[in-house]
Amino acid sequence: MERTLVVLAHPHLAASRVNAALADGAREMDGILVHDLYAAYPDLQIDVAREQRLLRDHDHVVLQFPFYWYSAPALLKKWLDEVFEHGFAYGTGGDALRGKTLRVAASVGGGEELYRPGGLNRFPVVDLLRPFDATANLTGMPYLPPFLIHGSHAVDDDELAAYVRRYQAELVTRSGTAPGDQQPVSSAA
Ligand SMILES: Cc1cc2nc3c(=O)[nH]c(=O)nc-3n(C[C@H](O)[C@H](O)[C@H](O)COP(=O)(O)O)c2cc1C
Repeated sequence: MERTLVVLAHPHLAASRVNAALADGAREMDGILVHDLYAAYPDLQIDVAREQRLLRDHDHVVLQFPFYWYSAPALLKKWLDEVFEHGFAYGTGGDALRGKTLRVAASVGGGEELYRPGGLNRFPVVDLLRPFDATANLTGMPYLPPFLIHGSHAVDDDELAAYVRRYQAELVTRSGTAPGDQQPVSSAA
């Protein structure tokens, strides 16, 4: 069975509604490891060798987080800076991630209508996430369309339950899926 690593980065998971529900849904599934970065590294000191072992042991990588300042919470950036190092993720001999898929799963406070030209936030979230797309490209990882929950504060319990089911379905391995085959998930399921 193919294995999926969900790298969860939420600095206040105890106060989270959306990411906590998604993480619980992911944990119910076989072949999926939810790795809570802020729980693993409360002092923010990342064990790079451990993280690289985890990545080597999985076929698919999902970066799950609440959208903070048009990006990911800080520890996920630090994780990328330190774990995706030369000789591991890129450069000479740096092919450890090649062929593993990369996908972002993010809850976004603002509604989709705010994320478009002329809207308050000007750019679609898929565009703001391009650094992840480019990172996937450089590391040889097929980049799958982001799983997005817009208007995360306004999602009611039924919608959240539907999103969790949708997330679980999206997490099911689809080996052979070509990047770009699917549309971003951005409206209530
Ligand atoms: C520090 C911080 C920065 C945030 N930045 C954004 C942002 O740039 N765009 C946005 O739409 N929502 C933003 N939000 C709202 C979060 O995305 C929202 O609280 C989160 O998706 C809720 O998920 P949760 O229930 O898992 O905590 C921000 C929230 C915080 C605390």
